[in-house]
Amino acid sequence: MKVLVIGGGGREHALAWKLSQSPRVDKVYCAPGNAGIAEVAECLDIKADDIDKLLDFVKYNWIDLTVVGPEVPLTLGVVDAFVKEGRPICGPDKKGAQLEGSKIFAKDFMQKYGIPTAEYKMFTSYLQAEEYVRLKGAPIVVKADGLAAGKGVIVAETVEEANDALKSIMKDKAFGDAGNRVVVEQCLKGEEASFMILTDGETVVPLATSQDHKQIFDGDKGPNTGGMGAYSPAPIVDESLRQVVMETIIAPMMRGLKRERINFRGVIYVGLMICDGKPFVLEYNCRFGDPEAQPILMRLESDLFELLKATADGKLKDVQVTWKDETSICIVLASPGYPGSYEKGKVIKGLDSFKNSEDVMVFHAGTKQKNREIVTAGGRVLGVTALGKDIQAARDNVYKAVEKIQFEGMQYRKDIGNKAINSR
Ligand code: AMP
Ligand code: GLY
Repeated sequence: MKVLVIGGGGREHALAWKLSQSPRVDKVYCAPGNAGIAEVAECLDIKADDIDKLLDFVKYNWIDLTVVGPEVPLTLGVVDAFVKEGRPICGPDKKGAQLEGSKIFAKDFMQKYGIPTAEYKMFTSYLQAEEYVRLKGAPIVVKADGLAAGKGVIVAETVEEANDALKSIMKDKAFGDAGNRVVVEQCLKGEEASFMILTDGETVVPLATSQDHKQIFDGDKGPNTGGMGAYSPAPIVDESLRQVVMETIIAPMMRGLKRERINFRGVIYVGLMICDGKPFVLEYNCRFGDPEAQPILMRLESDLFELLKATADGKLKDVQVTWKDETSICIVLASPGYPGSYEKGKVIKGLDSFKNSEDVMVFHAGTKQKNREIVTAGGRVLGVTALGKDIQAARDNVYKAVEKIQFEGMQYRKDIGNKAINSR
């Protein structure tokens, strides 16, 4: 079987790596890929959002399954285009991708189907939004409606901060048209967890739980990023909470997808805030989380190809999923300046230390081969991911591995895993 992975980040490296281990997979392609992905797949000079070229490639090369990593091609309708041509693909249709592509669509969906979420209001007028913030007071959360690479959400501790966010999004257009509308919502306090499921529209298969770390600095300080590190499992989601999530969040969500006639054959990522033991939905993503996919896929024992093919073919009820009874942690190594502007082209040293390791994987995100060296080419550069018998062991292993890697100005969080260790 031949598989195409769309994307070129750490998540796609983890997907391509795991897919390439399937005895049923002869070849993995990745568009566009990166320097690490090139070791397990053939990288193609096709951009992740160039739907026409992707479809041509799949048709002329008889690709058996396409797996979409990032959200942008999904919101542009890559699944609709592939399904029309009868090409198996994992992901939601364009309407389903709006669950991530529009915060307003997602909030309205949650309200309509009785899914617990923060109280909110939508605005197109800056003045009205500012007045609402004044009325509600702080802390309060301001969200650009559209896609903003994980950076369009501002958790404001003061009214001034919220107004600055509104000004930057609505007036200065920091995220372009994604900020034409905003959501202003109640600030929820609690602990976050990422709850992902695979679905073919009928059957739901929950994936291992995980916890992301969105802020750039230790102690959850500083601006939000795409994610600076993650571990799996998330101990906060115990069996009883898992059942509550399935009943109060996943079941009405599945009913809603059907009622809205959304064709969703892929991963739904539900970002949860657990407040006093009760789960609320912060956001939906219509794909695997990045970096959550990295630690989760290291724990997956089952054949990822079988799972994703069954998802695309509507046959998920026939599959079983098993996980390694170990903990996995991913630490993101980022360029200096990220999530703001940063320089690229810094030489990365130490990557050879991990060749052939079973317990440590260095997933590449923003990297590029330049002559005989691998250099930085993005904000999030690498995701060093390690397994351990428990969270402490995984933490020791992963930070030991991180110490072997260097590039100029490299920044990373030193506290990934602490929350889980402290809660034991
Ligand atoms: P989102 O993209 O909507 O998940 O938001 C990104 C991050 O902002 C989340 O992972 C939370 O850390 C934070 N956040 C979003 N919405 C809220 C909220 N209503 N209350 C508190 N924090 C939030
Ligand atoms: N790690 C959060 C995301 O993938 O959006």
